[in-house]
Amino acid sequence: MNYRHAYHAGNFADVFKHVVLTLILAYLGQKPTGFRVIDTHAGDGLYDLSGVAAEKTAEWRNGIGRLIGAEIWPELQPLLDPYLAIVAPRLTAESPYYPGSPLLAAALLRKQDRMIFCEAHPEVVGALKAHLGRDKRAKIIEIDGFVGLGAFVPPIERRGLVLVDPPFEAKDEFVRIAGAIDTALRKWPTGTYMIWFPIKDRAGVARFYSQMSDVIAKAGVREALCFELWIDDIGPDRPLAANGLVVINPPYVLDAQVRQILPYLARVLSIAGKGGYAVAHL
Ligand SMILES: C[S@@+](CC[C@H](N)C(=O)[O-])C[C@H]1O[C@@H](n2cnc3c(N)ncnc32)[C@H](O)[C@@H]1O
Repeated sequence: MNYRHAYHAGNFADVFKHVVLTLILAYLGQKPTGFRVIDTHAGDGLYDLSGVAAEKTAEWRNGIGRLIGAEIWPELQPLLDPYLAIVAPRLTAESPYYPGSPLLAAALLRKQDRMIFCEAHPEVVGALKAHLGRDKRAKIIEIDGFVGLGAFVPPIERRGLVLVDPPFEAKDEFVRIAGAIDTALRKWPTGTYMIWFPIKDRAGVARFYSQMSDVIAKAGVREALCFELWIDDIGPDRPLAANGLVVINPPYVLDAQVRQILPYLARVLSIAGKGGYAVAHL
């Protein structure tokens, strides 16, 4: 477990993942009944962008650093508002911080909603506890995220989101994800699941889509979407330049919302005009 998200916080992949995350949470919050977020790989919750790790890669400057300085297309303002309203106030010039998925969830959940954060690294668990403070809606558990997923679904609310955002250090991460989602869907077929993944090798991603299609078909899921965003050419030895999300049981508005946002993100975050995107049904 060498991965530390502090090196990557606020990069183009975080911006993409977190914009979609906030759209899903804003949608879930439209009904008065409570819902639950289960974040299997939670991270620190908050990242110091002037710290040594963030400064070393400076990845955030090509991610949130670009978005925050960009003109927002007027039709996208309502879609980006839930994300920017949380992120922008923390990006002060003197002391810029970037919120991770737990703090984004904490900002959007209401008093009737609950969150469970799984994290395997003890130091990261400590940081997350410090950053979330005493939030009665939240449980932070030091546990393997896939073990946690199996244990915590279905939530009693029967409504909510599972975020699966592993570090992809292990060679078999795609296979583990498909297996964990298969198990979870048997217990909770109506939950919304959002899975993030890097795209470095197209053949590996195609195998993942095929495995996920099988899992989804077996579970009789209503709908599953894949969104991809890239900012440059990809390759196994190049820095990460493309990533994707699979969203199972998405809110019915998500497809149209993300189709509106992706051309903008591809334009703003693109390096040397090489940005692009794709949307498909699994
Ligand atoms: C990509 S980061 C998570 C970022 C976070 N979801 C966000 O959006 O802000 C992945 C995290 O998973 C943690 N991790 C690594 N292996 C894990 C495991 N088996 N179970 C749970 N967490 C794990 C790492 O310590 C790291 O904090």
